[in-house]
Amino acid sequence: MGLITIDETLCKKDGICAAECPTAIIRQKDEDSYPELVPGGEQMCLGCGHCVAVCPHGALSHAEVPLDQCPAIRREDIMTRDQAVQFLRSRRSVRRFKDKAVEKEKVQHLIELARYAPTASNAQPVEWMVFTDREQIRGITENVVAWMRRVLEKDPHPANAPYMPLLVGAWDMGMDYILHQAPGLIVALAPKADANGMVDLTLALSYLELAAPSLGLGTCWAGLLQGALLSHKPLKEAMGIAENYPHHYPMMIGYPKFKYYRLPERKKPKVAWR
Ligand SMILES: Cc1cc2nc3c(=O)[nH]c(=O)nc-3n(C[C@H](O)[C@H](O)[C@H](O)COP(=O)(O)O)c2cc1C
Repeated sequence: MGLITIDETLCKKDGICAAECPTAIIRQKDEDSYPELVPGGEQMCLGCGHCVAVCPHGALSHAEVPLDQCPAIRREDIMTRDQAVQFLRSRRSVRRFKDKAVEKEKVQHLIELARYAPTASNAQPVEWMVFTDREQIRGITENVVAWMRRVLEKDPHPANAPYMPLLVGAWDMGMDYILHQAPGLIVALAPKADANGMVDLTLALSYLELAAPSLGLGTCWAGLLQGALLSHKPLKEAMGIAENYPHHYPMMIGYPKFKYYRLPERKKPKVAWR
C-alpha cells in the first residue's frame, strides 16, 4: 500500500488535496486524473494529515494518518468569536490549590490533547514527565530553595533575581511561593536533536493549560523551578531529566481553590502595520 490511498468511488477530482499539501507531494495531472503521490514524495511527507482533513468527500486516506482515525469536525462545537474571547481571556495562572490529588487519567487526557498543538515540521518531539507525589514535589521545591540559598550566599541581593531573598524568607516561614504546594507537576521535554524543541513544548504546554479548566483543573508555569533547572545541573539530574534534553519547562497543576469572576485587562498591543 502506498502512502496515500484514493477511493475512486468517492474522489471528485477537485484537486483540493493537491492544492493543500504543504510540501506539494500530491499532484493531479489533469481534471480527469485522480490525485497521486509525486515520485519520491514519501521522503518529503510531513505526515500532517492535511490531505485527509481537507477532502470534503472522505476519499483520501494516508498510511500514517488513516481516514478512519480522523473523526469528522463538529462545526456546531467550534467556538464563536465571543466564546473565543471568553475562553482565552478567562484562562488564569492558578497558584492556590485545593488539598486534593490530581487524577492520573486527567493528566493523561490533557497530555493527549496537547499532542494536537503545532510542532515544527510536524516533528511531534514533545515528551512528558509527571510528578503527583506530594513529598517528591516538596523535595523538588526544597532543592530550588537550597539552590537559591547558595546563590544568596555569594550575592545577597542578586540584581537579576531581586525576589530571591523574599522567596527564601517566605519558605522559612512555612510559605511556598515557588511551587505553591501544587499537588501535581508536569514537565514537557524535547531532545537536543530537535532545534525547535523549546517552541514546540511551549505550545504543547499552552494547549494543556488551556484545556485544564475543562477538567476543573488549573495550572501555572513554574518559571522559578525552570530557572533553577537551567542554573543548577544536580536538580535536573535529581528530577530525572537527561543531559540530552536541554529543552524543558515545568508546569504546576491542581484543583483551583478559588473561582475568578472578572477578566483582567492587559497592556495594549504594540503593533507595527507595515
Ligand atoms: C514563562 C512563564 C513563567 C512563569 N513563572 C511563574 C512562576 O514561577 N511562578 C508564578 O507564580 N507564576 C509564574 N508565571 C505566571 C505569570 O506570572 C502569569 O502568567 C502572569 O502574571 C499573568 O497572569 P495570568 O496567567 O493569570 O494571565 C509564569 C508565566 C509564564 C508564561
